[in-house]
Amino acid sequence: MASRDSTLSFGALIFFFISFLRCISDQAEAAVRKYQFDVQVKNVSRLCHAKPIVTVNGRFPGPTIYVREGDRVVVNVTNHAQYNMSIHWHGLKQYRNGWADGPAYITQCPIQTGNSYLYDFNVTGQRGTLWWHAHIFWLRATVYGAIVIMPKQGTPFPFPHPNSEQIILLGEWWNSDVEEVVKQGTNLGLPPNMSDAHTINGKPGPLFPCFEKHTFAMEVEPGKTYLLRIINAALNDQLFFAIANHNMTVVEIDAVYTKPFTTQALFIGPGQTTNVLVSANQAPGRYFMAARPFLDVPIPIDNKTATAILQYKSIPNTVLPKLPRLPAPNDTKFALGYDENLKSLNSQQYPAKVPLKVDRTLFYTIGLGINPCPTCVNGTRLTASLNNISFVMPQIGLLQAHYFNMTGVFGTDFPDRPPMPFNYTGAPLTANLKTSQGTRLSRIAFNATVELVLQDTNLLTVESHPFHLHGYNFFVVGTGIGNYDPAKDPAKYNLVDPPERNTVGVPTGGWTAIRFRADNPGVWFMHCHLELHTSWGLKTAFVVEDGPGSDQTVLPPPKDLPSC
Ligand code: C2O
Repeated sequence: MASRDSTLSFGALIFFFISFLRCISDQAEAAVRKYQFDVQVKNVSRLCHAKPIVTVNGRFPGPTIYVREGDRVVVNVTNHAQYNMSIHWHGLKQYRNGWADGPAYITQCPIQTGNSYLYDFNVTGQRGTLWWHAHIFWLRATVYGAIVIMPKQGTPFPFPHPNSEQIILLGEWWNSDVEEVVKQGTNLGLPPNMSDAHTINGKPGPLFPCFEKHTFAMEVEPGKTYLLRIINAALNDQLFFAIANHNMTVVEIDAVYTKPFTTQALFIGPGQTTNVLVSANQAPGRYFMAARPFLDVPIPIDNKTATAILQYKSIPNTVLPKLPRLPAPNDTKFALGYDENLKSLNSQQYPAKVPLKVDRTLFYTIGLGINPCPTCVNGTRLTASLNNISFVMPQIGLLQAHYFNMTGVFGTDFPDRPPMPFNYTGAPLTANLKTSQGTRLSRIAFNATVELVLQDTNLLTVESHPFHLHGYNFFVVGTGIGNYDPAKDPAKYNLVDPPERNTVGVPTGGWTAIRFRADNPGVWFMHCHLELHTSWGLKTAFVVEDGPGSDQTVLPPPKDLPSC
């Protein structure tokens, strides 16, 4: 007996010792990454125009957040600018922790001038490239930067290892003050003036005046491989991106690994990120990288091309770079074909956990519209709606209202389908749209599997819309042109290896079906990531209920949560 007891306790001792070691090593791995973000105004010049812009730490684009999967990130944001501010960590899931998500009046009141707020969150189960941006007014025009999530120590990158890496932030530049431009548009009831240039890492490149100081160049060495972390931080444009003579192999989108595929050009919507591998395997020289919008309807946009330079080592700057062949601005076929090539890696280590059974089926129509506006130029103002409801921003954070059970802030009667079915993508509808306004949300049971079909319509015009959901990744199980057919289309879904992401394009005059499991309680914003459409009301939010477990409820709000 005595010997058996001692064997047991020896075994127990070994067990505790191993657990203890594991505990220490986990702690050694999970670091706290601390950042100070000072939101401040700085004079910046592009296209020979200088103006004051809102920045983080005086930098444009802003600083990169580096974090390892499993780490905790603590960012103290201090607002020294004259605008209210809030920052969104686009694509981070923020499990139970909407307080750190950032969209103003959705999960928090904005940080007022002179105040600070600590965004405190864990990065779990995600690795790759995401980004952060201001989430109030149009301030993300200049307030944005990259987030790089390295895989856990000892977890290999499941693709050929690059020799080096580079962040490529695609953006837009206005010569005038962006908030003034928006104010002017709103007063007139018209779209605000479009941007004056696109940018690569904040720089428009040699196709614009005063480019000498404002051209981004990346030096490469022959034979080496580079990982480009490409982020579309533009406000209103879906973009094509290419590098002259160099193919790119896509390996990750929105911080999820994909089945690698090689392409001459990328198609990337605002909010989306794409990691590609590029080999410096061409004749040493200088090659342009270029970004230009995709738009397949006759709506005016800034169609100008931003360029940067891929420069082989020791090639003199006097060599003229070659321009890449970008798809034509209206190349629908390329855009659709590109998206069709995106598939989850779906390996044993990185499985695609696609919900196969659906608890809740939602069908939302995307529409533009016009409301009466006596003071506007045409007597009308442009709006946008989901299921014919144009979202009205509340005066206080919706997550607070939900957490503290405040009444009168929002309704949970957002309809699961449009008020009445119609031929969504038939002849343009311009009269009698009867768009209503409201702060109406949809309530979702904890852990329910949700299928949402987003259907573009010809209310005023068809158009392509990049939709972003906060708090989740979703699977893009199907897409098509024309009206979604619930009898036929689900049979064509990809439920094996569909792309998993946080922002997806709904094609012009078409539909996209996404699925996700509502396992993250809180209030989660969903909106078109074209800032123009978001400001017109193309947005809503989900209230995901708490689960039964003590670790399945919304965390208590932090003490320094800003008040309105
Ligand atoms: Cu990238 Cu709600 O935003």
